[in-house]
Order: sequence, then C-alpha cells, then structure tokens
Amino acid sequence: MPEPTWERHQPVLLAEVLDGLALKPGALVIDGTLGAGGHAEAMLEATAPTGHLLGIDRDGSALETAKTRLARFAGRLQVWHGSYADMGQAAAETGFEAVDAVLLDLGLSSLQLDDPRRGFAFRYDAPLDMRFDRRTPQTAADLVNDLPEEELAELIRDYGEERYARRIARAIVSARPLHSTSALQEVIARAVPPARHERIHPATRTFQALRIAVNDELGMLERGLPQAVDLLKPGGRLAVISFHSLEDRIVKQFVRREAADCICPPEQPVCTCDHQARLRPVSRKPVTADAAEVDRNPRARSAKLRVAERL
Ligand SMILES: C[S@@+](CC[C@H](N)C(=O)[O-])C[C@H]1O[C@@H](n2cnc3c(N)ncnc32)[C@H](O)[C@@H]1O
Repeated sequence: MPEPTWERHQPVLLAEVLDGLALKPGALVIDGTLGAGGHAEAMLEATAPTGHLLGIDRDGSALETAKTRLARFAGRLQVWHGSYADMGQAAAETGFEAVDAVLLDLGLSSLQLDDPRRGFAFRYDAPLDMRFDRRTPQTAADLVNDLPEEELAELIRDYGEERYARRIARAIVSARPLHSTSALQEVIARAVPPARHERIHPATRTFQALRIAVNDELGMLERGLPQAVDLLKPGGRLAVISFHSLEDRIVKQFVRREAADCICPPEQPVCTCDHQARLRPVSRKPVTADAAEVDRNPRARSAKLRVAERL
C-alpha cells in the first residue's frame, strides 16, 4: 500500500480562497487547518516576499508533512500543534496578534483519509481510531463499544444525518466489541435495508458521525470562529470551507450574527443587546466548486466557501 504523500491532496477552491482573502505582499495569515499545506503554499506565495503564515493543525504528522512541503518558506512560516479552537493562544505564543486573513478548511485531508492506519476510511481494514490528534483520549472504538445504544443512535443521527441510526446502533450494540473499520462497516451494511445501498456506501454517514464526535468538530468550530474574528485587523478577512451542512450552518449563523448590529429577539420592540457588527459577509451565497474542479477532485463536490470581512 503506498504511503500517502502531500501530492495526493489537492487544495479545494484554491483560486476562490485567494480571491476571497485578497492577500497582499507582507500580509499576516493564520491557516487554522494547515493539513498538507496546499492552501498555505499558495498564500505564502501571494504574500511574498515579507508575509508570514502561522499554520495550525491538530495532526502532528500533517504538520511534519507541511513543514517539508513548505521548507522553502522556512523564515516566513511558523507551525503550532493544536486546535484552531485555541487560535488565540497559538497567536499570542507566536506573535500573530493582528492578522490580515484567517483560513479554516474543515474536515480531514486526503492524507488522513488515505492513511490505512488512521481508521478514517472503511476501504482499509484498520483499528477504529479516527483521532486527528493522537493526544485525544477517546477513539472511535471507545464510542462504538462504550456508548449506551440510545446515545449511539443519537450521535449517528445528529452528526451523520443518518435515517437508519436506530437500526445501526442496535446492530452495533449486538455485535460488540468491534475493533476494526471492516468489522464495523460489515455490521452497518447488514443493518441498513439493501435499497439504501445504491447511492453511497451504507457506512459513509456513520463513519462521518463517529469522526465528528471523536474530534468534537462542531464544538471546535463554535469555539474557533469568534477567536478568528478577534484576531483580524479591520479589513482583514475570514474564509471558511465546510464540507457538510452541519458545519456550514454554524458558519452561516455565526457570520449572520456577527454582521448584525442588534441580536435581540425580533419580537422585542427596543434593542437592549448592545451588540455591534464585527463582520461584513463578502458574498451572500457560499462559493462552490465548478464542474471541472469536481471532476479533478471529487472531495470538492460538497465544499462551500464563505468569506467575511472584519469591520
Ligand atoms: C481539509 S484538511 C486541510 C488541507 C489544507 N488546506 C491543504 O490545502 O493542504 C483539514 C486539516 O484540518 C485539521 N484539523 C481538523 N480539525 C482541526 C482543529 N480543530 N484544529 C486544527 N486542525 C484541525 C486536520 O487534521 C486536517 O489536517
């Protein structure tokens, strides 16, 4: 089996991100999800010769890959191992306190998906791990084997938007303990009615749900977004690429709230909230990939880019 390499990961909506962030030479940029360094490479080029980029990732091996790829920018690149949900701390520790741009390209990279040891993909037999950061105490196996059936069903329904969540949870509980991706996907495939097998693999949504839960992906996004805005200079831009509706909803609602001068309930006649708008959405609708990009990179199919400017 080939070792995954960064060449296999294509940055999604790259031209659109560069266009949205409107980077200038000398700009300070935070890439909160450095991954294979694809967007970072283009952002370092766009901010040459004096721009600096702070790259954050929860995955220590992604940081190593990105450092190799970005070695030619060594003097202009800093990396920080941790979550973008602690971006304020990362920025304070590295001197990136007022920045021109923040990018979040959510989810997982092809490097992680194609690494047979990580347990993200059901096409490889692997331990049920799915942690972005190996320091995270709970793995997918812990959730699959320890959660009460009701909670497992909720998790699969809420994070996987899976209509057969109850059946799947029941089948998992009867087949416990489950330790490998292939054992889990076989249990799911047997639990879901055959007609459902036609569109996507029946385990797709459950695997997504487990990955989101293991890494608390939605909680991280909710914590990270306000810190990104705190760090932006006036005129600085935030770009977020999401890959499913749960993430996009959080981003959309966050931008809407941050763009409003009043967030009082609509039925309240007088404003008492003292809220002040901090963001201006750069476009009302999210940007999506064109057919040519989706053809080249199927991962781009569900990508949605939202860009907002700090007031
Ligand atoms: C889609 S990839 C980024 C790819 C990158 N933009 C590129 O062009 O190569 C997402 C990355 O975000 C990382 N990640 C996910 N959640 C994170 C979090 N809360 N904090 C920091 N990194 C995170 C993953 O480990 C993964 O490497």
